[in-house]
Amino acid sequence: MLARQRLHPTEYQKSVRRSQPHKLKDPGPQREEVEQNVCYNLGLIISRNHSWMTSMTFDPQDQRRIMGKFATGVTVASTRKGNDTWGMTANAVTSLSLDPPLVLLCVKRDGQSHTQFSESDCFALNILSAKQQAVSDRFAFKGPKDFSGLEFTTAETGAPILADSLGWVDCKIVNTIRAGDHDMFIGEILAGDATEEQPLLYFSGGYSQLLANSE
Ligand SMILES: Cc1cc2nc3c(=O)[nH]c(=O)nc-3n(C[C@H](O)[C@H](O)[C@H](O)COP(=O)(O)O)c2cc1C
Repeated sequence: MLARQRLHPTEYQKSVRRSQPHKLKDPGPQREEVEQNVCYNLGLIISRNHSWMTSMTFDPQDQRRIMGKFATGVTVASTRKGNDTWGMTANAVTSLSLDPPLVLLCVKRDGQSHTQFSESDCFALNILSAKQQAVSDRFAFKGPKDFSGLEFTTAETGAPILADSLGWVDCKIVNTIRAGDHDMFIGEILAGDATEEQPLLYFSGGYSQLLANSE
């Protein structure tokens, strides 16, 4: 089991001195330079003993593994530009605000989906039911997305609303915020609905479902 350990500030300073004595004894360096050395040493000290704690170079695989424990639902975020429809499987979504009614969709910037959402003024979030795993797979492939054979309607914005979804919200994009390798699209909900089906879940890098209630 991983135990989280912290260096006491004085022990930490001693270890910094031990590892870089010439730097700290030299009266010359500016405060900024000393702080940089301290941060550098802190990184080395922590990473040597507790690699899971270094934030300077936190491993993306570790982030995936850890955040994968945060179970989510699965959506297909869809959009439309003229006659062109687009969909992308997404679980980096959340309900953001009730007043005004806002939702958040995070899209990685290096794919075609990003271009599609950036060039559109709307999106819909289609919350998938446990029966729609194949739909999730279909919209998780790279490149142009294929709606053929899928029933869908439109509501206010024209973004595709998938039939048989567990729930949906139709939104106009009111803000886009850059964040690392993703952009956050904030949508104001114009219409929506939900059913009582079972949800499709995503957990630890794979699909999952709610346990049937045994009572
Ligand atoms: C369960 C699941 C959830 C996903 N969630 C997101 C997400 O929230 N944001 C995102 O950018 N990509 C997400 N993806 C990956 C995209 O669906 C995938 O990269 C995209 O469809 C690839 O197409 P593109 O490169 O043409 O844009 C997810 C994939 C799966 C299977």
